[in-house]
Amino acid sequence: MKVQDLAKKELLPIKRPVHGGQGWKLSDVEDFSHNLNPYGPPAELPQLVSEAVEQLGHYPDDTSADFREAVAAHHKVSPENVIAGAGSAELIRLFPEVFLSHKARVIIPRPSFSEYAHACRMQGANVMDAPLCEGDGFRLDLNAIYEKLPLAKAVYVCNPNNPTGTVESRKRVLELIDECERAGKLVFLDETLLELVDRHDDVSCMSEVKECTNLFIISSLTKSFAIPGMRIGYGVGSEEIINMMDRARLSWNVGVMEQYVGARLVRDHMGHVRRAANMMAFERQRVKAAIDRTGLFSPLSNESFFFFARVSSPRLSGEDIVEHLLPRKVLVRDCSTFGRPFERFVRFSVKTPQKNDLLMQAMDETAQEIRSTAFGARMHV
Ligand SMILES: Cc1ncc(COP(=O)(O)O)c(C=O)c1O
Repeated sequence: MKVQDLAKKELLPIKRPVHGGQGWKLSDVEDFSHNLNPYGPPAELPQLVSEAVEQLGHYPDDTSADFREAVAAHHKVSPENVIAGAGSAELIRLFPEVFLSHKARVIIPRPSFSEYAHACRMQGANVMDAPLCEGDGFRLDLNAIYEKLPLAKAVYVCNPNNPTGTVESRKRVLELIDECERAGKLVFLDETLLELVDRHDDVSCMSEVKECTNLFIISSLTKSFAIPGMRIGYGVGSEEIINMMDRARLSWNVGVMEQYVGARLVRDHMGHVRRAANMMAFERQRVKAAIDRTGLFSPLSNESFFFFARVSSPRLSGEDIVEHLLPRKVLVRDCSTFGRPFERFVRFSVKTPQKNDLLMQAMDETAQEIRSTAFGARMHV
């Protein structure tokens, strides 16, 4: 018997998405490949976890009521606008399970977070790429999206976009949401990385879910509180969308510990996130200036707290840069997994001043090393 013949045929061409943030497996390396709060979790985290341990003897509240209330208060929406998830990753999977049937089409910008396309393809949906144009700072091409819109059921947007770091203005995102509403299409908006951007309040569309019936937004505690090991995220959407998604949600999807710690973090510790966002807003200018001076990459765009950097030398790939930096105890993300056009890109985040000094020094040494070899001959330095 060939088990493969019994599996759903949509599964056969599908590969698992590849992610950064693997630095913890390497000892003595500073991991700039993930986009977590560089201050780490708040100092009170161990205390909160130990309080939650006492509650492990019972099933979690299936409705995650207290956590959803905390999230609703934070975003000034109603708990009925909120669904909790085991990380926002669970909600990326749930959305197409609820809204996409076989052969439905979705529009997904490229490059963007790989989990969206994976989750849509799992439902047998077809992905229509909406290429982001490098010359325009990898901004959304709204006209190109509108042309494809009649064929699609939903449009995905990641703001700031992973991996490019581009931050779209609220005005542009609202224009897209309105156009989709008129056309009867859904918008899946990922704001998972937004709380760590200094001007997030001017950009976020969370409060719009009260007006826009077609809008679903995900966010997460993973990045903001640097707790990827706890699986806790949430979706904020129109009541109609949340109601549909809740019908399909796995029972007890969010554990006791995650609900308890998550609610406390959102209620009492958002200041920790804001401090990190403000510090990184300052640091990213310093990192950009220093790394631009090395000539290792095309000038960096610094809208966000991570950089998507094109290697200047046409002879070098992102993987080569990773290999040059690793002996200097710095890990950056090789972006070749986002597709062939991105083989010459790396992604790295801004961290605390001291760690950024290490990054800048390693980049500078790498540029000098490359310049002294034939490979660097065409670098513009
Ligand atoms: C843009 C974006 N959205 C969502 C996620 C999923 O994160 P989590 O499931 O930890 O909330 C990630 C993780 O890397 C991400 O980069």
